[in-house]
Amino acid sequence: MQMITIIICIKIKLENLSMKTISNASVGLIFGTDTGNTEEIGDKICAQLAELACPVEMINVSEASVEVLDAFDLLIMGIPTWDFGGIQGDWEDFEDQILSAQLKGKVVALYGLGDQFGYGDYFLDAMGWLHEKVAKTGAKFIGYWPTEGYEFDASLAANEDNTMFCGLAIDEDQQFELTDQRVKQWVKQLVQQFESLEAA
Ligand SMILES: Cc1cc2nc3c(=O)[nH]c(=O)nc-3n(C[C@H](O)[C@H](O)[C@H](O)COP(=O)(O)O)c2cc1C
Repeated sequence: MQMITIIICIKIKLENLSMKTISNASVGLIFGTDTGNTEEIGDKICAQLAELACPVEMINVSEASVEVLDAFDLLIMGIPTWDFGGIQGDWEDFEDQILSAQLKGKVVALYGLGDQFGYGDYFLDAMGWLHEKVAKTGAKFIGYWPTEGYEFDASLAANEDNTMFCGLAIDEDQQFELTDQRVKQWVKQLVQQFESLEAA
């Protein structure tokens, strides 16, 4: 009886040791940007994760490859929307690589940048585009984000009843003062969701 208990304890310990927590996971952040905002938000996300002893490799999508997508346990992808629902150019050029990547079972989180008052009919559309492409690879998403607190008429990044975005929504044009708190809260959420997925 005692022997069985010892074996069970060792098994549980070994399982816990092999479990991925955010501090022993490899995390990559891939971003595209025209005027630098999406990179700046990437830096803020990395700073928050660094506080949790989680180093992040940041890669501009213009220098990324399919192999890069494959290399991480958690992939964070950042994309701004341009020109009435348009896709940031480097991400658009990367579409074929996304579709050919082996992301089945990988954990992916998105963040998007847009301007809700200037482009309220197309708010964060490119993040919705990216979500659709990555979903085709079989990846698992974390980091969906409530639409409460934003004002917009239409967004391809929102779900059918307009209650959730498919990733963190950042508006540096109209709500820059809310960015730091949003990033902090979202990273906290990411860590919880990533670790509970890994423990499942
Ligand atoms: C000409 C122009 C077009 C834009 N079009 C959109 C748009 O269709 N939808 C949206 O949500 N934001 C739009 N934006 C806002 C940008 O996405 C936002 O400024 C973003 O922070 C830029 O990110 P970047 O600096 O990483 O390129 C537009 C901005 C400009 C100047």
